[in-house]
This record gives sequence, structure tokens and C-alpha cells, in this order.
Amino acid sequence: MLVASSSSSESSSTWSKNSWRGFEAEQQPSFEDEVQLGEVIHELEQKPPLVTPWEIDRLAQQLAAASEGKRFLLQGGDCAERFNECKPEIISNRLKVLLQMSLVLVYGLRLPVVRVGRFAGQYAKPRSSDMEESNGEILPSYRGDIVNAPEFGRQARRPAPRRMIQAYEHSAMSLNYIRALGEGGFADLRHPENWNLGFVQHDSLRSEYQGIVDSILEALQFMEAVSSNPIGDVDRVSFYSSHEALLLPYEEAFTRMEGKEGASYNLSTHFPWIGKRTNNIDGAHVEYIRGIQNPIGIKVGPGMTGPELVALLQRINPDNRPGRITLITRFGATSIAEGLPPLIRAIQQEGLNVLWTCDPMHGNTETVSNGIKTRRFKNILSELEQAFDVHAACNSILGGVHLELTGEDVTECLGGAGGLCESDLSRAYQSEVDPRLNGEQALELAFAIVRKQRAMRLEKLG
Ligand code: PEP
Ligand code: CO
Repeated sequence: MLVASSSSSESSSTWSKNSWRGFEAEQQPSFEDEVQLGEVIHELEQKPPLVTPWEIDRLAQQLAAASEGKRFLLQGGDCAERFNECKPEIISNRLKVLLQMSLVLVYGLRLPVVRVGRFAGQYAKPRSSDMEESNGEILPSYRGDIVNAPEFGRQARRPAPRRMIQAYEHSAMSLNYIRALGEGGFADLRHPENWNLGFVQHDSLRSEYQGIVDSILEALQFMEAVSSNPIGDVDRVSFYSSHEALLLPYEEAFTRMEGKEGASYNLSTHFPWIGKRTNNIDGAHVEYIRGIQNPIGIKVGPGMTGPELVALLQRINPDNRPGRITLITRFGATSIAEGLPPLIRAIQQEGLNVLWTCDPMHGNTETVSNGIKTRRFKNILSELEQAFDVHAACNSILGGVHLELTGEDVTECLGGAGGLCESDLSRAYQSEVDPRLNGEQALELAFAIVRKQRAMRLEKLG
């Protein structure tokens, strides 16, 4: 049984990797076969982990630096990964877009970028409704490939515990390839084929980008000429993985005690986050997350008050450890100006250490006339620009961005330099869940971040 009665007083009691089972767990599937569920968890508990505590600690330090404006966090990837999209081109195209965006950001912001993918484990999805009806039939909603399949059929929609094993295997395959690419020169600027912009059609974007690549290359060649040695490490690049820690039995299975002090780490990912629907202070997700050492992302949006947020952070990060908490705000372009400032002030008043980042995707989802779910580039950009302004006005720092994007040439979000309109949506719409920025739109957003930061700097000087 995943859901049991709870009371908030229990939350201060001893934590263990399965203490969440005494709390109400939102967004969990109802698995019919409890015995099989137990067997799967036991099997996963024996598997090698996907990441190490050292990597996790290093990421936490980098996130702490981002909270002070010394780094910038770029977190991005699919809304939900699919098992059947665990393919070399899809993985490398996604990395390419993240690399290209980070190049623009490093160059434009003059800051090191922390790259975190929504990948190698982003298989579980929260849904607004447990059940879905079609043609008079009612079946469980699709909750991501780790739970069931999207096709509308009795068999496909039945939550199957063994899918957790497949999720682990696909995460391992993806991460293995990502690590190999990162170590193996994929990011070397001297291999222009990895930096080309096959997906960008818009000329000004293309030439702005090429200008950056050329000047970095020139600088590299200059440095190598004067030192007569190759510059170390420019060909290596690190990516961290992240996913929503939603399906708690899976997260529990990868929670391992490490080191002399026996601290518990979730070793299925570097950076788990909890979503807007599971950030309830009395809920099982908060109970689980409070006891692991990993840096934690928390989605925050409309409806959250300052005192609620402060109480949540005191529960999850009682020692106020820098780098431990990343607040990922997702208000929507029309609500951020009103919703964000009270939260920033509450955090400042209590002197809590957090990294603020903006997710300009999830508050800007809409359904257009033909019933397709989309997001408008101009609303995404507007929320992001407002986030920079609100933080500056509150004397706070926006230290990163959280995006849903893909390296594939999809038509899921409207607008951008390519001017995608409603009639384009059906041409290459692939997402089973939320609409993602395509490569061109994602790169355009990176340039927009740089432009906004520059304008703000000039304004300050001016
Ligand atoms: C998501 O990031 O895919 C998501 C479901 O976000 P949120 O929890 O902010 O709605
Ligand atoms: Co999403």
C-alpha cells in the first residue's frame, strides 16, 4: 500500500528511505500486483547506481555558486522521455542544443554554465486527472513510460511495475552515451560538425551564433599558439542529470547510504526535483526528499504563499545549506509580476539560502482551437524577462533557467524567429505530454537571455 494516513507531527520523526510510506502520496499509480511491485523494488535495490555521491556534491557546490551569481544554471530537456526515443541521434541532438545554448550563455554572460539535462530518467509524469475517458471507456491516465504506455487501451494503460526496470535500463543506456560523448571530444570546438546549426533556418540567428563560435575558436587558436600546447579540457564537457522524483518506490530503490557518516543519496540522478502538484509540506514527496543529500529542485507557482514556502524550506533544508535548494518558479507571463515578489521577500526576510531559477514553460501552456496543447514563444520570453526584472527589483539573483526543449525539428510551441503558427502545429508535433521548444527556438531563447542581461547591465551603469 503506497498511501497511508499521515499527520504533520510525524514529519519531524526519524527519516528513512521508506518513511514516506507513512504519508499521503499524490500522483502514484495504483499497481494491481503488490507482490510484483515488491519484487521489482528489491531487484532495483541490487542494481548499480547511475551517479555517484562525489558528482552530486560537486553539483551542489556549483548550484551554490549560481545562487550567488557566479554561475548560471541551464536545465533543459524533454517534458517526458520515451523508451522508444532512447536513440543515438535523439540523445546527441538534445546534447547539441544544450551545448550550443550554453556556449551562447557562457560567451554572453561571461559566466560558467552548469548544464543539467531533464534526461536519463525523466520518465514519470504527474497528471491532472487519474482517469481518462474516450468513446465511453474510462482508463487510467498515461503517467509516463515508467508506469504505463500512452496508447488508449486496457493493456497499455495498466500500470506495470516491471516498467521501472526498463526505466532504469534506458536511463543507464542514455547516461552512458551522454558521458561518452562528454568525455570523447563531442564538445571540442575544433570539430565544427558538432557545432553546426542544421536546424536553424533564420539567418540572423545563424550569423550571430557563428560569430560567437568563430571568436571562441580564434581565442583558442591564439592561446594554443602562444603556449604551444593544446589547451586542456576544452574538449570535455559535463552534463548532470535530473528528473522529477515522482514515483516514490523507484526513488526509494536508488536511495543508498554512502560514506562514513552514512548519509543517504538518491543515486538514480544528480538532481531530483519535486513538482508543483507534489510540494505539499505534509505529503510523502516532501518527506522523502528531506532526507536525501542531493540538491533538490522545488517547483513553485501560483497559490504558494511566502510563509508556506518558508515552512517548506525549513523542513527540507533545516541547516540552510547553500546549494541544497533550487526554487524553480513557474507562474506564467500574466501572474509572475504579482506572484513572485512576495516569495522573494519572504525568503530574504528569513535569510534562507536558495538558488532562484525560472521555468517559463509550465505556467504558459494553452490549448488552441484545434485542441492541441501549445505554448507561445512570446509568453515564454515574457515570463523569463519579467523574472530577471522582478529579481533585480527585489535585489535578488535569477541564477538559471528551466526549459522543455528538444533537438528535433518539432512544431510544438508557437512563434519564435521561424514564425510557427497554429496551422504548423500538426506538421511535426511529437510530444505525448507538454509542448517543447525546438532547437531553433531554444537557441533564440539563449540569445534573448544574454540580450536581457546586457540591457540590465547597461541600465545599471546608465
Ligand atoms: C514538469 O516539469 O514537467 C511539470 C509537470 O512541471 P510542474 O510540476 O511545474 O507543473
Ligand atoms: Co512538462
